[in-house]
Amino acid sequence: MSMKLPFFKNKKTETNTLNDLDNIPQHVAIIMDGNGRWAQKRGLPRVAGHKEGMNVVKNIVKAATNNNVQILTLYTFSTENWKRPKSEVDFIMRLPKEFLHTYLPDLIENNVRIETIGEFGALPEHTKEAIQYAKDKTKNNDGLLLNFALNYGSRFEIMRAIKQVMTDIEDSKLSLDTLDENIFSEYLYTDGLTDPDLLIRTSGEQRLSNFLLWQLAYTEFWFTDVLWPDFSEEIFQNALHEYQQRKRRYGGI
Ligand code: IPE
Ligand code: IPE
Ligand code: MG
Repeated sequence: MSMKLPFFKNKKTETNTLNDLDNIPQHVAIIMDGNGRWAQKRGLPRVAGHKEGMNVVKNIVKAATNNNVQILTLYTFSTENWKRPKSEVDFIMRLPKEFLHTYLPDLIENNVRIETIGEFGALPEHTKEAIQYAKDKTKNNDGLLLNFALNYGSRFEIMRAIKQVMTDIEDSKLSLDTLDENIFSEYLYTDGLTDPDLLIRTSGEQRLSNFLLWQLAYTEFWFTDVLWPDFSEEIFQNALHEYQQRKRRYGGI
């Protein structure tokens, strides 16, 4: 077990971790939605919601660690989000650096490993630099995997995989006969990761918005009307608890 720094330390550990340690979702994915509406409700610019949402990320990383979740995948920016006004996109692209500047030392102390899925190369230089630094610094950590879906789109991911598969077949690195679901999965950004067990979406929307279409085939979904900046460790805990009551059948009986 790694040492825990104060912001990870829970005064009320008993109430903030699950009593039933069975059946904890190994991989939790979250569509963190509702930042803009949270700000607008308060008469603030939309970006104020993104800023507030950033601090919630820290709390949920803590909660995931405390509850023994192994992988936390956070939908941070979709390939469709480039459609937004440039000022909003620019603001969002500066948040990873700000987040890491504030929290990276604690994340390192708590053995968190940082990774991303999505088209990393197309991000602004300053965003890439900050995240790459964090990836390098945490690459040997074996605690929670904190996986940011950044410039991520599932259809693009699948198309990209198909193109790579075809190239590998042409180059005789892969044969059509051996290609199966497991091998195909290795061509996705999520290569090496188990599929999410639990998907949470905040803000009342009940859609996937191009998130992990392949990987969510048998994932349990959990929706809440709470807007992301109002999301809390308690609500996260409720979602985990409800997950524990679900019966996953995978088509069986
Ligand atoms: C989620 O909140 C954050 C991103 C998509 C980057 P939104 O910005 O989508 O907030 P709403 O849905 O407009 O309220
Ligand atoms: C999904 O939220 C993307 C992220 C949370 C990063 P959106 O707000 O972009 O989704 P739509 O447009 O409501 O489907
Ligand atoms: Mg939204």
